[in-house]
Amino acid sequence: MTINQTIYERGKTAGIFPSLSSRRDEAYVGFIEDARNLLMHAQQKPIGEYSRSLLQDAGKSMETDPKSSAEAQELLMKDSVLKTYYRVKRSLQESFWECILNSFNMKKNELLQALDDAEKIGPGSVSYDPDYAVADYTKREIHLQPGGYVNEPLAGFIYDYGLKVFMGGSADNDAAHKGLASTAGAPKDGQVSRILDLGCSAGGTITALKNIYPDAEAWGIDVSAAMVRYAHLRAAEQNVDIHFKQMHAEELDFEDNSFDIVTATLLFHELPVSMAKKVIAEALRVLRPGGSFTIFDFPSANKQDVYGMFFGEMDALDNVEPYIPEYVRSNVEEVMDDTGFEMFPYDPSKGLLIGRIGTKPEN
Ligand SMILES: C[S@@+](CC[C@H](N)C(=O)[O-])C[C@H]1O[C@@H](n2cnc3c(N)ncnc32)[C@H](O)[C@@H]1O
Repeated sequence: MTINQTIYERGKTAGIFPSLSSRRDEAYVGFIEDARNLLMHAQQKPIGEYSRSLLQDAGKSMETDPKSSAEAQELLMKDSVLKTYYRVKRSLQESFWECILNSFNMKKNELLQALDDAEKIGPGSVSYDPDYAVADYTKREIHLQPGGYVNEPLAGFIYDYGLKVFMGGSADNDAAHKGLASTAGAPKDGQVSRILDLGCSAGGTITALKNIYPDAEAWGIDVSAAMVRYAHLRAAEQNVDIHFKQMHAEELDFEDNSFDIVTATLLFHELPVSMAKKVIAEALRVLRPGGSFTIFDFPSANKQDVYGMFFGEMDALDNVEPYIPEYVRSNVEEVMDDTGFEMFPYDPSKGLLIGRIGTKPEN
């Protein structure tokens, strides 16, 4: 039994996943990716400077307390340049998702067949339960992805292609995940025999970690069956030995003290804070003493000014990121510290997603 190769008939995009159903769709989505690079990514800094100058000229406070944030939001949302910027951002986002969804739906049967076929082959494995009770808060259409992560059987394909566009090509060939994984924390004694990635989606981070620690047993968990099925297909196609399992990160079905490294990439800003606290406690539980937990995610409120907070609030309002505002105010490093991790100093100047790294104390 091998994977149904008809899904790669038109080749692979970003070096890894199936191309869309037609050249026309790819050209269109490529255009959106370039438009986002030009209009969104390249403009992010000038738009930030422009917004900060509006606030300063109006004598507004740059502090991130709730009153200053509300005042900043009220002022910035009235500005016509910013209104246009956020309108264009949303339209570009809606356009690429719609095209990717429709294009993959054109070959839905082959894609579903490939997921079925992959279940029967290794390396690695996948397990999920069609009757699994998925928590309601995970069912939102986060960043406007049609069907969200859990209600669309092709969610993994759609997410992976969407991530390529969203990241403006910087995630191609898993480059972004490889970069993050190379900075993940590791136990001081260097012993790494089991690693776990939480909210693994398509499996980019755990694949990169498995390549760094080829002898370790690697696990990726995600609440979405569609995601773990796709992640397994993707890893098997690359001949990487990883076990994927449908699971809530706040309720891990693993023994205490059973992993050396746990990671979570871009999961935490998509969790209600009450759940994030449970996930941190679960990471502490499943790590062995001396084991290391890395959270790659956006900086907390105490590392941003009021415009940084506004940017997050706009994502929450306009891009279905319902948990971002609560997350950035939660100060995840402090929560990790309070939960019992020994924290490494965190340097936000190193990059937007740079990891918060905690070690489980030895005793
Ligand atoms: C933004 S994606 C993560 C990206 C991914 N880690 C990567 O590196 O590309 C968030 C993922 O977390 C999953 N997720 C959300 N809540 C979860 C939970 N409570 N437990 C496990 N997975 C969850 C979603 O299904 C989705 O696949």
